Amino acid sequence: MSTDIHPPLDTATAIRARRSVPYGRLSAEQPELPDALIWTLLEAAHWAPSHGNTQPWRFGVFTGAGRARLADVLAASLAEHKGVTDAAEVAELRATQQETQAKAPVWIVVAAQTPASTKFPSYEEDWAAAAAMQNLLLAARSHGLGSKWITSAALMHPTTLPALGFEEGCRPIGMLYLAQVEEWPEGRRDPVAQKVLWVRE
Ligand SMILES: Cc1cc2nc3c(=O)[nH]c(=O)nc-3n(C[C@H](O)[C@H](O)[C@H](O)COP(=O)(O)O)c2cc1C
Repeated sequence: MSTDIHPPLDTATAIRARRSVPYGRLSAEQPELPDALIWTLLEAAHWAPSHGNTQPWRFGVFTGAGRARLADVLAASLAEHKGVTDAAEVAELRATQQETQAKAPVWIVVAAQTPASTKFPSYEEDWAAAAAMQNLLLAARSHGLGSKWITSAALMHPTTLPALGFEEGCRPIGMLYLAQVEEWPEGRRDPVAQKVLWVRE
């Protein structure tokens, strides 16, 4: 099954057309995505640069009932973050989180791991994993899928990655969903010249 709404976009077009798609812009119908397509996107992420080629990115892929497992962990972390202990309130957080994860067929958590022996600071591993995250977002857009980089308090909570099964020492970089889009949002940027220091002589 192909989910492409067009042949894969070229890099420059995908960069310009990528958007953080709010849940309200997603299609009501969200067919499952083929594993082969998810692997294609993970491969794109895996070709990110890393200092010394340490390849520090780690991916957790949650599909089918795995999305409910992700939701339960996020809800438990959120409850801890907010100091919520009342059982009914915890159940409500869980139900809301389950609804969110059900909006898209695929969720991917991106993390960074510092290799046991490295001469590079761990922030460089985080940057490399962030580059992998961007590759994923661009590859998704290229194949016609919507996504959004999410760094919610629940995801960033220290209990989340271990509870999801990530190896010890991993740091969260973000999570994203992959979904069909009903209507792509407009992008907005200031003139690039405002951000540029250009030295000619
Ligand atoms: C590190 C990082 C964290 C982000 N976290 C969130 C988030 O938690 N929730 C959200 O709705 N968007 C999040 N975003 C998406 C930004 O809001 C979005 O990129 C920005 O508004 C520009 O929109 P565009 O991506 O469509 O160009 C994040 C983006 C980055 C790079």
